[in-house]
Amino acid sequence: MGDSRSLGGSYLCFICVHLWLKNMTTDAKILSALRANPDGVSGAQLAEQLEISRAAIWSRIEELRQVGYEIEAEPHLGYRLISSPDALHADDLLARLGKTKIIGRDIRVFKETTSTNDVIEKLARDGVKEGVVVFAESQTKGRGRLGRKWISPANKGLWFSILLRPDMHPQETTQLTVASATALRRAIIAETNLRPEIKWPNDILIGGKKVAGILTELSAESDCVKYITLGIGVDVNVDAHELPPEVRKLATSLKIESGAAICRAELATGILRELDRDYARICAGKFSEVADEWEAGCATIGKNVTVLMGDRKICGRAESLDDAGALLVRTEHGHLERVIGGDVTLEK
Ligand code: BTN
Repeated sequence: MGDSRSLGGSYLCFICVHLWLKNMTTDAKILSALRANPDGVSGAQLAEQLEISRAAIWSRIEELRQVGYEIEAEPHLGYRLISSPDALHADDLLARLGKTKIIGRDIRVFKETTSTNDVIEKLARDGVKEGVVVFAESQTKGRGRLGRKWISPANKGLWFSILLRPDMHPQETTQLTVASATALRRAIIAETNLRPEIKWPNDILIGGKKVAGILTELSAESDCVKYITLGIGVDVNVDAHELPPEVRKLATSLKIESGAAICRAELATGILRELDRDYARICAGKFSEVADEWEAGCATIGKNVTVLMGDRKICGRAESLDDAGALLVRTEHGHLERVIGGDVTLEK
């Protein structure tokens, strides 16, 4: 019984890996094989694995070199990946990501766009499946919450959006913002030596300064979500002089805080992997697990806050999150206010 179960499991797993490989482009498969064999892999082995000719392998390797991959070819060792360019490359991101359930099964990279959220909106209206991720090296009209502008210097950050089609009520979608902040924090911790904190609902702070933000845009019909565009901006290798003077006191980047440039492709795929995990938890009805982790990494809970929601101002102590991801604030009059949006300022 035990044996047949585990055989079934590994057979399914084999099919999944096989399907994942089948869906990958040749370049992604080559990069994946080169990374899996740091000491080198021969043209013949690659050709056999990918079921194409050695000449085709050679021509793809040449193309990869053209876009900045340093690939050494040694008669006895075969091909060796020496270094990768800093530019984001869809095939490379797919190869580094490996297999995920939903997020990242389709990745597209643009050199420039207005806003990656705009691109996702269009894909959503065209009926594209959930999980597609769009990155842009720069955005001409990047936007943040509450109608703010989001500055996106070329090749310095991660500016990307994800299409999701969860089976949930529009009021529950704060769960996704909360889950994204949790996933983003975990990925930053794994890639750097930094200790990021979450500020409800969508900011990632380091030393009290913002390093990343999340913009969740919703398309809903009566009581159900049609699709969600999850836009994420991370100031990765932005230098201090590239931050607009008016935000220098409030914003920072991972490079400024850690003192070293960070590999954007590694961070990007780390974030997608963590997001995929948290999205699965939410879809399985396990938001409370995510909420517990969120609270543990949150700079808002237990603090006195001021919340601006349109014309309304709420002052009080942030107590916890509710089941839908809303922030519960105990006012000075003892009322418990439920905050689902607005601008939260942490009081000293
Ligand atoms: C915020 O903190 O106000 C949210 C910022 C979200 C910025 C990202 S960058 C990628 C995506 N495209 C946009 O135009 N905005 C989001």
